[in-house]
Amino acid sequence: MGCFRCSGRSSKRSERSNNNSIKRNDQTRTTSGSLKVKPFANVKEEGTSNDDQLSLDVKNLNLVDEVSKNVRNNGKLAQTFTFEELAAATGNFQSDCFLGEGGFGKVYKGHLDKINQVVAIKQLDRNGVQGTREFVIEVLTLSLADHPNLVKLIGYCAEGDQRLLVYEYMPLGSLENHLHDLPRNRQPLDWNTRMKIAAVAAKGLEYLHEKMKPPVIYRDLKCSNILLGEGYHPKLSDFGLAKVGPSGDKTHVSTRVMGTYGYCAPDYAMTGQLTFKSDIYSFGVVLLELITGRKAIDQKRDHGEQNLVAWARPMFKDRRNFSRMVDPLLKGQYPVRGLYQALAIAAMCVQEQPNMRPNVSDVVMALNYLASQKYDPQIDPVQGSHKTPSRHGPKKDNDRSAGNVSPESNGDS
Ligand SMILES: Nc1ncnc2c1ncn2[C@@H]1O[C@H](COP(=O)(O)OP(=O)(O)OP(=O)(O)O)[C@@H](O)[C@H]1O
Ligand SMILES: [Mg+2]
Repeated sequence: MGCFRCSGRSSKRSERSNNNSIKRNDQTRTTSGSLKVKPFANVKEEGTSNDDQLSLDVKNLNLVDEVSKNVRNNGKLAQTFTFEELAAATGNFQSDCFLGEGGFGKVYKGHLDKINQVVAIKQLDRNGVQGTREFVIEVLTLSLADHPNLVKLIGYCAEGDQRLLVYEYMPLGSLENHLHDLPRNRQPLDWNTRMKIAAVAAKGLEYLHEKMKPPVIYRDLKCSNILLGEGYHPKLSDFGLAKVGPSGDKTHVSTRVMGTYGYCAPDYAMTGQLTFKSDIYSFGVVLLELITGRKAIDQKRDHGEQNLVAWARPMFKDRRNFSRMVDPLLKGQYPVRGLYQALAIAAMCVQEQPNMRPNVSDVVMALNYLASQKYDPQIDPVQGSHKTPSRHGPKKDNDRSAGNVSPESNGDS
């Protein structure tokens, strides 16, 4: 794919420096250099309310012409909480309530007495422009959005240096937690659940691309940003990098390159030209992760297999490879034809040329069909010999007799 070659954790976001090389950007440190926004200080003016502080952030970040305009016209800001209320909800951010940590900061589970609801509270731990920018964009974007496949922003707190986001609590955590490095007591996701997650997540993306006014490019689609509710119902989360899509005759938005190694479309990484098709590429990577159980970037693998798309692309060419691509943790419990079709969709999404990638509504249609074709291991044959499954072990190619769907040639799935 030639997108990001990096060292360090694969899930970290990155930014392209001016000389076109990709540099790793440790999210716990202030983003440096090439930001186009004005220098900004996290100062709270005496007596400023939560709401006013957000307006100040918007002004200082020069965001008045972006999403904020639309929030003023169409939206309603999420409610505000005091820092004291959020500290009380999490027992002062105690370690028992800790859910996880990303580039933005730590996430805690809490109970907000005021609204009698269990919530997830994300606390920004970085000072500086980029963190505050992501905070503001997140609040504004989610204030405009309303869809069952997008995580709900319940409210926020912007007091002095403190920036916190309050979300609905997603009891099953992120998709990443269910696909990679599973703890011993966690069952791998079965085929039907994987296809359902893909279809519902695609529907969330369709809402951003085609239903929202204005349409939004997500820019941060990855497994850790797909959160799971009861029954593995997925919702997209983290909209701090979202961008209003191109308007009028424009085909792209020119912007500095932000995203996550392994998920970022090569065309966007090279040119800084962001399109809806950049999200489709990232979606293709997620779909490949669901099918193969492999990470977008995995430095523990052999050199040629570290980048999922680079590994998968040559394999798409010959369907005899397909059974070697599927996650060994499925233990052969998948429909052969469904596998071919899922790989066909993924292959189309991760094509090098952005205009060759499908629109999100085509992806939704194809995945809805796939998810409706339920696999039943009691009825359908279990593929291959999978008595001792291993993610790294040798695999058997035994699916030559099944359907003739090839991702290179077939777009009808
Ligand atoms: N609303 C939520 N409900 C339950 N758990 C959550 C929620 N939001 C986040 N988490 C947990 O917190 C972890 C960290 O999330 P966060 O979005 O901060 O980081 P990330 O997505 O892993 O990385 P990045 O900052 O690069 O996007 C998630 O993996 C998830 O387990
Ligand atoms: Mg996240």
